[in-house]
Order: sequence, then structure tokens, then C-alpha cells
Amino acid sequence: MRKKLVVGNWKMNMTQREAKAVVESLLLLIEPTTEVEVGICPTYLTIETVSQLFRRTRFHVGAQDVFWGKAGAFTGNISAAMLKDLECHFCIVGHSETRGRFGKLEVPESTLSYFSETDETVNLKIKALLYQSIHPILCVGETLAEREAGNTDAVIQAQLKGALDGIDGAEFHDGVVAYEPVWAIGTGKTCDSAEASRVCGMIRQSLAKILGPEPAEAIRILYGGSVKAANAAELFSQPHIDGGLVGGASLVADEFSAIVRSA
Ligand code: PGA
Repeated sequence: MRKKLVVGNWKMNMTQREAKAVVESLLLLIEPTTEVEVGICPTYLTIETVSQLFRRTRFHVGAQDVFWGKAGAFTGNISAAMLKDLECHFCIVGHSETRGRFGKLEVPESTLSYFSETDETVNLKIKALLYQSIHPILCVGETLAEREAGNTDAVIQAQLKGALDGIDGAEFHDGVVAYEPVWAIGTGKTCDSAEASRVCGMIRQSLAKILGPEPAEAIRILYGGSVKAANAAELFSQPHIDGGLVGGASLVADEFSAIVRSA
């Protein structure tokens, strides 16, 4: 039986003071259990603050991105070893915001290179994380245009194949995949729960082909995209959904706690 998992992705939010206040509230409101794991992925700058507050609790801290190089002349980047040093348990990779999909939608094509993560660089990041025993949270998902063209499953299968190329099933055994339809992120539009579950089930079948049936059974598959207290119970009760990756709603302690309780 897979443990449920709820992870908050704080994105570019929270000063030190704000982060401390939200975490202190969370510690009073909820407690992760043997059935439900809980993590928060703050900005790089607040990882240490959150990590210290989570010490001697069952909460996990994670990061939102990583660079695959070990060390050296990579201005502005952070290595997996540095994340390990701050006790990061998880790290998000391949989020649609770092893949550059928002870049494509909202900013001119010429600025895409500021954002563009590819399946190839996502793969390098996953390898760097696994080397440090940090659990990757691999995000996959289709744009609205891809969904409307009937390409949802093919797009996601290609993302999984590219991201997991050359990775051993046993190594990714404790990894996580998050299904995040791009059109549902930060838009208030949630994917219909039955359809989200169908896609998560399809993801598990693909994982079985890529990594083998045993790791595919163990990997948690989350849904992400406008998860909130009002829809969490419905989503988390679906057969193929093992929890949620929560953006906006993870910034408010009461709301995030209610989502965790639904799991
Ligand atoms: P959202 O973001 O919950 O604000 O839609 C989810 C995510 O991007 O992980």
C-alpha cells in the first residue's frame, strides 16, 4: 500500500519571516502520520529556515529545482549536494514553469531560454538528485492545445521516457511523479477527478514499461493543478491518485492543513 503524499510548492513566495509564520502554524495544525507524508518546497533562500523548523518532526523539506553539475562555474545555480546539506528530502524537476511552458504562453519566444528545461536536462537533474539520495518529484503534463489535439497521453509518455532515460527502476523506487495539466496550474481550473485519475493510471502503466512493474507499483503519482481544500478529498479518493502537489493553496496554513487532512 502506497503512503499518501501531499507536497506544497511555494514557488517564488515567502520571505524568511512569512515562511517561519506559516511553518509554525502548520506545526500546530497538522502532523504527518504513517499513512500521510507531508512536504514543503520553499525557495532556495528559505529552505534552511524551514528545514530547521521541521527538524525532529515528520515533515519533509524539499527544493523546487536543482542544477546537475557537481560544483564549479555555474553562476546562479544550486547543486544536489547543497540541497542534501540542508536536509532536502525531495526536489521538484520538470515543473511546467521551469520547462518553459509559461514562457511559451506568456512571454515572447525570445525569452524562452531563461526558462527552458528539456526532457534531457530534467534527466540530468534526476540523476544528480538520485546520486545524493534526494527523491525527485518529476512533473509531467500537457498544455491545453495538446489536450485539445488528443495528444495528452502521447505527450506525457514522451516526457516520462525522456526524463527517465538510463535510470534504473530500483533507483527511482522512492521517486514521485506529479501529473500537472499545464492548463490547470494557477488557473483555478481543476482537471475532472475521474480524468486526472485515468491519466495517473496511464502514467503508472508507462512507468511499468520504462522502469519495470515493481518500481512502478511503489512510485507515488500525485495530481497537481488548482488543488484546494474544497476539491482535495474528491481528488485524493480516486483510485490512481496518491496525493497532491499544491501551489497557491499551500501558502495559507489553514487551507494547506485542510488539504492534508483530506488525504
Ligand atoms: P497551483 O499550482 O496549485 O497553484 O495550481 C500547482 C503547481 O504548480 O505545482
